[in-house]
Amino acid sequence: MKRFNVAVLPGDGIGPEIVGEALKVMKAVGKKFSAEFVATEALVGGASIDAYGKPLTDEVLKIALGADAVLLGAVGGPKWEGLDYSIRPERALLALRKELGLFANLRPARIYDELIDASTLKPEVIKGVDLLVVRELTGGLYFGTPKGVETLPDGTERGVNTMVYTTPEIERIAKVGFEVARKRRKKLCSVDKANVLETTELWRKVVIKVGKDYPDVELSHMYVDNCAMQLIRNPGQFDVIVTENTFGDILSDEASMLTGSIGMLPSASIGSDKRRAMYEPIHGSAPDIAGKGIANPIATILSAAMMLKYSFDMNEASDLIERAVEKVLARGLRTADIMQPGKTKASCSEMGAAVLKELEG
Ligand code: IPM
Ligand code: MG
Repeated sequence: MKRFNVAVLPGDGIGPEIVGEALKVMKAVGKKFSAEFVATEALVGGASIDAYGKPLTDEVLKIALGADAVLLGAVGGPKWEGLDYSIRPERALLALRKELGLFANLRPARIYDELIDASTLKPEVIKGVDLLVVRELTGGLYFGTPKGVETLPDGTERGVNTMVYTTPEIERIAKVGFEVARKRRKKLCSVDKANVLETTELWRKVVIKVGKDYPDVELSHMYVDNCAMQLIRNPGQFDVIVTENTFGDILSDEASMLTGSIGMLPSASIGSDKRRAMYEPIHGSAPDIAGKGIANPIATILSAAMMLKYSFDMNEASDLIERAVEKVLARGLRTADIMQPGKTKASCSEMGAAVLKELEG
């Protein structure tokens, strides 16, 4: 029996509901593949602010650092929006990414044939789309200094954020991009704004240099504005996209809409230390539907599947979860966000239970 310690951080809003379903699924696959997932649950984000006055306590950070992997739900909500940036729920997420050294965020966007009509885009545009956004996660605008808002002598204010990347930071994310492309269709598109931003001019230069070690991977470059357009014009052209933090944040939300719902997209955040990784849906805490039991747990369930694959080398178990999700969709079960005429509406827990049943059956 293999044992894995998982730090479970449900967070805010729909976080606890969706994480609850993912945990049930993990438990079931664990049984099937003789693995035990020992979950240590802790508060993070707004829930932690309410309990301890800050979004991430040292204790919880320690739990995350000591775990074999972290499963996170979502953080944030209107209740905490008035707070200073330094203690907002989102800080917990940024601190976890930084402290765990998770510089690479993998966000796969795959179109399930079953959901083609759930997307706002035309079926012929999205059919067969299977792309992966590799988002740099611990640099760029999110972390660069100087940053902040200052009051000028004339009483007006001045806000600053800095987009900064060093050669080693670009090299390591580029390598991740090439490595994952190598395991897929061997196409890597590096997205930058090299026609305007010096930082990303450096980005392009370094990516080209790293690419010399990957002659089997076809490398292309695209400006981020063009990429935003191409993603809805012809998403089928993409295999792996590698890009800086903010661009990746925006493009991955856009990519999620190809799949019909942001409630479908999982993510894995990894670094150079294989024992450190965090898995979370790419969507937020959805405070408007929190507590109603109608959230889509699939993104979190698929995030758990990514955990099994990337952190625990349990490929077969991971595939099994993905197949189970596919089958449930094929049977016509839909949460509200992907509901279509003629399908069967499922609550969050009904969707989770249906995936469980497929797994066990
Ligand atoms: C994401 C989210 C986060 C981000 C927020 C909640 C801080 O949008 O994971 O994409 O901006 O990275
Ligand atoms: Mg985002």
